[in-house]
Amino acid sequence: MAKKGKYLAIHVKISYFYAIIVLAVIMNNAMATTETKKSNVMNTSKLFATSLALIAATAALSAAEVKETWEKSCIKCHGADGKGDTKLGKKVEVKDFTDAKYQETFTDDKAFKTIKEGLKDGEKAKMKPLEGATDEEIKALIKQVRSFKK
Ligand code: HEC
Repeated sequence: MAKKGKYLAIHVKISYFYAIIVLAVIMNNAMATTETKKSNVMNTSKLFATSLALIAATAALSAAEVKETWEKSCIKCHGADGKGDTKLGKKVEVKDFTDAKYQETFTDDKAFKTIKEGLKDGEKAKMKPLEGATDEEIKALIKQVRSFKK
């Protein structure tokens, strides 16, 4: 899990790196003389296109990772359909994510805290904290949870 969080962070960092290169090229272009401007504009658009493609790829990758995290760390209690109709889900008494009324009982902020820090019933852990997840990954998981609402 910690490893996955790290991978995600690396991909995000790569996008930042490209964004910085694009900015540098744009600045360089702004300062260039009229003779060199034409080729610089071409280079800039090429780099820009590459960066856009890279950023899109990063977004797609994190969506896939979130799905993987959901399947690996959440389904065993909350179920593939979010109803919590699993052996473990029944044991810890998860509630039905497809129930709009239940969805209203917690805010996104509360859900964030629950996923990051876990949920306790007195001293007994009801839900463990998700380790090594980035804030973006947690937010995407909340979206996943909300998507079950009928
Ligand atoms: C060991 C079982 C278990 C696992 C695994 C588990 N949960 Fe939970 N989850 C619970 C229980 C129990 C509740 C509380 C139900 C209730 O309100 O009584 C809960 C509540 C929630 C809530 C409601 C927020 C709140 O504060 O009440 C969210 C959102 C949630 N889980 C998301 C997740 C996500 C995302 C994962 C995977 C990273 C996950 N859960 C994994 C058992 C689990």
